[in-house]
Amino acid sequence: MTEPFTIAIDGPAAAGKGTISKAVAAHFNMAHLDTGLLYRAVGARVLAGEDAVEAARTLVAADLENDSLRTQDVAQAASKVAVIGDVRAALLDFQRAFARRAGGAVLDGRDIGTVICPQAEVKLFVTASAEVRAKRRYDELVSRGQPADLEAVTADVKARDARDMERAEAPLKPAQDAVLIDTSDKTIDQAVAAAIDAVNLKKG
Ligand code: CDP
Repeated sequence: MTEPFTIAIDGPAAAGKGTISKAVAAHFNMAHLDTGLLYRAVGARVLAGEDAVEAARTLVAADLENDSLRTQDVAQAASKVAVIGDVRAALLDFQRAFARRAGGAVLDGRDIGTVICPQAEVKLFVTASAEVRAKRRYDELVSRGQPADLEAVTADVKARDARDMERAEAPLKPAQDAVLIDTSDKTIDQAVAAAIDAVNLKKG
């Protein structure tokens, strides 16, 4: 397939979007953009002392390779810069251009189906209970060798969800035409299969 084809995957923290998006992109041989990484990269530069809007306007590929991007501190900083309209605006064109590249693209984030790509051919909203998501993020941090405490991780995930859902700019919510996938009781393989099925239904 050489035509543009956009698959938008949104959902709350640690719902499994990243794993599902990578697998869907590999299955359909499409490019994948983890848009959370853009906000994390801006958050990391703010933690290093920079202004958020300036950081978003001058983001470069090397910023996405910073080893600290997957820490909880950077996740919180990301959700704080993500409420700023000028930060979101600075990241918009890059995401839209990526979405329309030849051969198709999978973008995962919070506002892909609602704001970045409202015309996306497929929209998925991936979710799971807060407890399941917190446990997954905890296991992920431990497996990376990062110190983690389940209660603190749960509090972090809930605080970030609240900030993401309550913000005025591009709040986290399912697009009206999104397919909902609840991964609480699904294995990774089952969640990926549900996502691939939903894409195949739309591709016809
Ligand atoms: O991996 P996880 O789901 O925990 O987070 P992420 O996707 O890396 O996103 C980190 C933070 O960036 C989120 O909590 C949001 O505040 C923000 N974000 C956003 O506002 N819009 C997006 N499209 C993606 C992320």
